[in-house]
Amino acid sequence: MTTDNTPAAPAKMWGGRFAEKTAASVEAFTASIHYDARLYRHDIAGSRAHARMLAQQGLITAAERDQILTGLDTIEAEIDAGTFVFRPELEDIHMNIEKTLVERIGPAGAKLHTARSRNDQVALDIRLYLREESERLIALLTGLQKALVRQARANLGAIMPGYTHLQRAQPVLVSHHLLAYYEMFGRDKARLADGLKRINVLPLGAAALAGTGLPIDRDFVARELGFPAVTANSMDTVGDRDFAVEFLAAASLVQLHLSRLSEELVLWTSEEFRFVRLADAYCTGSSIMPQKKNPDIPELIRGKSGRVVGNLMALLTILKGLPLTYNRDLQEDKEPIFDTVDTVSHSLAIAAELMANLTFNRDRLLDCTHGGYMTATDLADYLVRKNIPFREAHAIVGRTVAYCIEQAKELAELTIDELRRFSDTIDEDVFPLLTVPGSVASRRSTGGTGLDRVTEALALAEQTLELVP
Ligand code: ARG
Repeated sequence: MTTDNTPAAPAKMWGGRFAEKTAASVEAFTASIHYDARLYRHDIAGSRAHARMLAQQGLITAAERDQILTGLDTIEAEIDAGTFVFRPELEDIHMNIEKTLVERIGPAGAKLHTARSRNDQVALDIRLYLREESERLIALLTGLQKALVRQARANLGAIMPGYTHLQRAQPVLVSHHLLAYYEMFGRDKARLADGLKRINVLPLGAAALAGTGLPIDRDFVARELGFPAVTANSMDTVGDRDFAVEFLAAASLVQLHLSRLSEELVLWTSEEFRFVRLADAYCTGSSIMPQKKNPDIPELIRGKSGRVVGNLMALLTILKGLPLTYNRDLQEDKEPIFDTVDTVSHSLAIAAELMANLTFNRDRLLDCTHGGYMTATDLADYLVRKNIPFREAHAIVGRTVAYCIEQAKELAELTIDELRRFSDTIDEDVFPLLTVPGSVASRRSTGGTGLDRVTEALALAEQTLELVP
């Protein structure tokens, strides 16, 4: 049996010590170029900074640096234009770019990888990528917050049932409900911004794992690329993907919040609720039931949380048990990261559109606050103000509600005599509190649903988002 043992002409950048050609199956199995090509701009930005540093340190000449920079410009322009030919046998984006550079500019190109390894190079690319994407997600979150706040402003004063256990609990302002999501997405922005502190540290210079004996200047590269700091331990640097886990975790919470909002929209658009109407342009129909108008967009957003949480689990599992330092397993970080970035950013963008194309059915919302004894807590609070211990007040109101059910009456429909049967401390001044608007208005505690508090919260949100009411 004969095999093709032709000694490798240096087809591979690392081919020197190999006597045999790589098996085609191995090339196919190890290649990542079909997805990591997405990192080309970051890879080239890193190479530019690295080349400038090498020249500054006298490791290459100024002329070599300029040849490298010009070569990289051309390659970038070709990739931008879609004319660059990616070669799977060159494995990944790093070697596709470097090999092409060497082929085009010769010996100067062959000096670019001085004092650098793909291990610190790929860590740099992902950090640059996630830095950019974190900023973009933060901007998209702001866009969604604006849509929520605009709805909160447009519906200020409208009242709806607030739920616990998906049972009507206490009446609240629609704006209060919407601003709850404003808060969630605000925390998501803060989490992404906090993660940036760990993303934004320069890994380049760790080289393969141990640093380099060549006189590099990491601070110079950090300044070139806008990193406020450089990593402290070269071994940690090439094995670390904690920052990516944090990003995927923060993104998972974004998608979870989107999913909860979506779930409410699915409920609210149903015939059973009829709380909101979605514009036709944001719904889809059924292929068999002509009457259907389905909330497929919120359903898909909700469904997509599966892959986003899955991507977080994937990276955590990839990292578990990896010995120091770099292992090829780490190449598996990219697809989960890219998929999460795509899924979450598309979901955020469409959710903002959805929120802008939503109409609240205010009459229906108010109707639904009646009939559930939703002001029962207000009666208990009234009794507390009359010096009755809360637990006792709770029991009194429980009996009052039982009586209402028996008499088929609302709390506010009881006469003063009827009310006094349950506590003689009750006076006429209780009635405003037993109405739904009275109940809402009374909730003036910080963070409560009273109109005063919600108006303040709304104004603060508008100021923060620089929205003109
Ligand atoms: N494509 C590789 C990755 O994504 C680049 C680093 C490869 N390093 C190595 N020593 N084989 O992780």
